[in-house]
Amino acid sequence: MDPKDRLIVALDVDSKEKALNLIDKLKNDVKFFKIGFELFSSCGPSIVEESLAKGGRIFLDLKYHDIPNTVSKAAISITKLGVFMFNVHALGGYDMMKKAADAVRMEADKLKVIKPKVIAVTILTSMDEAALNSVGVSGRMDDEVLRLARLAKAAGLDGVVASPSEIKLLRDNLGNDFLIVSPGVRPEWASVGDQKRIATPSQAIRDGASFIVVGRPVTDAKDQVGAAQKILKEINI
Ligand code: C5P
Repeated sequence: MDPKDRLIVALDVDSKEKALNLIDKLKNDVKFFKIGFELFSSCGPSIVEESLAKGGRIFLDLKYHDIPNTVSKAAISITKLGVFMFNVHALGGYDMMKKAADAVRMEADKLKVIKPKVIAVTILTSMDEAALNSVGVSGRMDDEVLRLARLAKAAGLDGVVASPSEIKLLRDNLGNDFLIVSPGVRPEWASVGDQKRIATPSQAIRDGASFIVVGRPVTDAKDQVGAAQKILKEINI
């Protein structure tokens, strides 16, 4: 597979100008960009529209978690925006995920557009077992992640977000036609920052990730294009 179909660069910057400049700079090498809370909250949907107009394909990382009716209506709005992928929290439950997935399918059919991929966040990677227990979830982390990923699949979602340490477990148990999107990826030459459970880009792909999400190793690099190209080379396996 073309390594460009595996790399998502996180546009973790605080202004529209910086985000659009980054897309301009990287777009010969990078097809997919992630827009998260920071950028979306400061710019609104126009940042998605303008990124799409520049030719970027967008993973909108807003992690919806609300009642099924509200999330499915938001999912319809996102489908209209034309993003490639967006996510919800699996802890919102089966009905929430199913209603969102069904709404996206129907809206995409109606608009005659390619359906956005809907993926689920299982357990936030910032939580450890003690934090899980403190909110009343008493199982082991791996078991919880797998259970929620299975629930997402049963609800008709396309995949999950997973930390590098969970990729193998999920790939082995959920088959090959389920997306695994993995942040927490660090090339050997990049600084780790605040990420904890990390893997190199090539390790994550070898373990079975469909996409890797990379932020600071590219955005903080002196040579951002060179950094993206180096990562593409490393995942060309
Ligand atoms: O800079 P860095 O490569 O750590 O950026 C990773 C991106 O992926 C950030 O936008 C971060 O919010 C996001 N992310 C993550 N861990 C998750 C989910 C999303 O690091 N579990």
